[in-house]
Amino acid sequence: MTIDLAALPHDFLWGTATSAYQIEGAVAEDGRSPSIWDTFSHTPGKIDNDDHGDTACDHYHRWPEDIELMRRLGVNAYRMSVAWPRVKPGGDGPVNAKGLAFYDELVDRLLEAGITPSVTLYHWDLPQALQDRGGWPERDTAELLADYASVVAERLGDRVGYWTTLNEPSCSAWIGHLEGKMAPGLTDLTAAVRASYHLLLGHGLTVEAVRAAAPGAQIGLVNNLSTVTPASDRPEDAAAARRHDGHVNRWWLDPIHGRGFPADMREVYGVDLPERPGDAEAIAAPLDWLGLNYYFPATVADDPTGPAPYARFVRKDGVPRTGMDWEIDASGIETLLLRLTHEYGARKIHVTENGSAFPDAVRPDGTVDDPERQDYLVRHLAACASAARQGAPLAGYFAWSLLDNFEWAYGYDKRFGLVHVDYPTQVRTIKGSGRRYAEIVREHREQGRKAA
Ligand code: FCB
Repeated sequence: MTIDLAALPHDFLWGTATSAYQIEGAVAEDGRSPSIWDTFSHTPGKIDNDDHGDTACDHYHRWPEDIELMRRLGVNAYRMSVAWPRVKPGGDGPVNAKGLAFYDELVDRLLEAGITPSVTLYHWDLPQALQDRGGWPERDTAELLADYASVVAERLGDRVGYWTTLNEPSCSAWIGHLEGKMAPGLTDLTAAVRASYHLLLGHGLTVEAVRAAAPGAQIGLVNNLSTVTPASDRPEDAAAARRHDGHVNRWWLDPIHGRGFPADMREVYGVDLPERPGDAEAIAAPLDWLGLNYYFPATVADDPTGPAPYARFVRKDGVPRTGMDWEIDASGIETLLLRLTHEYGARKIHVTENGSAFPDAVRPDGTVDDPERQDYLVRHLAACASAARQGAPLAGYFAWSLLDNFEWAYGYDKRFGLVHVDYPTQVRTIKGSGRRYAEIVREHREQGRKAA
């Protein structure tokens, strides 16, 4: 399979992505306070093997080695997140100088290595202190996100060009507050809908705060979107597919584009939104780019007795799957890039996450070969390039993930890295997919050089 690399701009951002809680460890060091993920992962039975992020990839201490790995991969960008509980351990109140200093130095060293940082302000690690005050179902949390964000943007904004307010707010709201499978682990529709509202409000307020602190910043929101297909041609399944699309896609895209929260979904949830005058405008603050995380397509059927949105996943037989049991369908990323372009008028898009988990084995000679992950990577890059060829303004791709890491409720067994991590020794080994990615990046760069 060939990738139409010529369809991608010369200044394309080739990156890898991580998030703070999944890699940093050092949870009690230098003034960091617990986040909802510390609490959740230390609650027995919530995480496979009762794993937690206490040490994770020990990136807090090993970041120079991790930058060196990126340099070896030849990437020119890195999507990382800042941990709110390091910067403002109480959620609000005093700033923790040591927490901020960690990211300050990391950014400097990335830039020295020729790697452009793209910083996510909130990748799910809400300070527990704010959860104790009600968390995302409360309006205060939205306002405090913006306060914390302005501290970070004031410190890093002279060097960081790309900012993301939130990572995948739909997971925070729906998986965290409705399905209970992620922190804070609630199963409460009213709390979930209120959380969804305040996440998007927090996003909008944060856009303003970052812009004020770092006038040149390019700010975006990262959503994980899915293509949705009805399981049959029954009208009930078609309606379920429409609801699922509303739940995972439109609820998050319409309001930030000034279209308000979708009327059909307001009815499906039947929960009053805590709306106040001016909120809709704040939520629709203009963005410089959109982030797309894509992993798998959804096939759904009507499920009138299940939880909102009354649509259940139907497992298709005979299709390839990753180690997460997620269906592999690269055409989905192309469809979604074109949807953002045509339906939402996107002017710049970064694929901020895309990748696959497989049970990798270290061979006796110490190498890790992962042909399935390589295949996933190449197929999805080919689909991205095809979307770009058709006019999608794709400006970057960030492979999830640089390193194997703490995969939330699945713990450490699910490995997404281009680099293998042996947790007991913390030895890092670039996998075959990492080498393949490096080749692709190099090839694109050479094409650009020749064309210049
Ligand atoms: C996404 C998350 C990311 C990672 C991948 C596999 O939903 O944003 O942190 O866990 O899934």
